Amino acid sequence: MVITSPGQQDGKTTVAVRLAVATARAGTRVILVEADLRRPQVAQRLGLDEYTEGLASVLTGQRHLSEVLIDYPLGEESQVGATSGGRLRVLPAGPIPPNPSELVGSEKMQRVVSDLEAQADLVLIDTPALLAVSDALPLLPGASGVLIVARLGRTTRAAIRRLQQIIATANGVPLGAVATGTRDREGYEGYSYGYYEHGGSSWRARRRARREARDRIPVPPPEIPRAEDPVSVQPTESRPV
Ligand SMILES: Nc1ncnc2c1ncn2[C@@H]1O[C@H](COP(=O)(O)OP(=O)(O)OP(=O)(O)O)[C@@H](O)[C@H]1O
Ligand SMILES: [Mg+2]
Repeated sequence: MVITSPGQQDGKTTVAVRLAVATARAGTRVILVEADLRRPQVAQRLGLDEYTEGLASVLTGQRHLSEVLIDYPLGEESQVGATSGGRLRVLPAGPIPPNPSELVGSEKMQRVVSDLEAQADLVLIDTPALLAVSDALPLLPGASGVLIVARLGRTTRAAIRRLQQIIATANGVPLGAVATGTRDREGYEGYSYGYYEHGGSSWRARRRARREARDRIPVPPPEIPRAEDPVSVQPTESRPV
């Protein structure tokens, strides 16, 4: 399963990492692949930064796949929600190469993915923003499906439509979308309302506090296009999802 999104910082890596850990804990044999060779984050998020070799090392012939797959500890069997039989292995990006699109689009990459598929129930592939760079394109036709990550308040309908077109043109199978950046009370990091601090238990006070908190939510910075191979995209509509 390929995980992608229209823009940078939409939450792809977060979704990929959490989905990998959750499905492995639920008893699935999972391999999480970092195919964003430009700004890889998976290893760091999982505290595996000391592993400097990875996918790029395999694709350039420096390492064998079995040498760079890392077994990620899932915690005690007694842990809530943990089911036996699950396993999570991580293939980090490895050293950042000068030619990421070429490597991810190579035949060797197809072989690596097939090898991984033979060893796991689920192979999750984290990729860079598809409207920014085309690196993920060659992975789409061979994948069982594509999971689209969309960030509420930022991802536009036009961007999603464009992404859908690109996926369809590449013969990818869209599986559905995950919306990130929700603004509920148990919100994520800086996105939570945190309106308790405003005190007041009345309905009116809570509503006012909620509105104030909503107004404080920072506006994300504009997207900065990355590197080569841009897939031409000019959203025609700026209305967020
Ligand atoms: N569900 C979420 N709600 C709010 N913020 C989130 C959510 N998921 C991730 N974030 C935050 O958004 C930022 C970007 O997340 P992440 O690195 O997962 O995105 P990405 O799409 O992989 O980015 P990139 O395009 O750079 O690879 C991080 O600071 C992360 O903590
Ligand atoms: Mg990412």
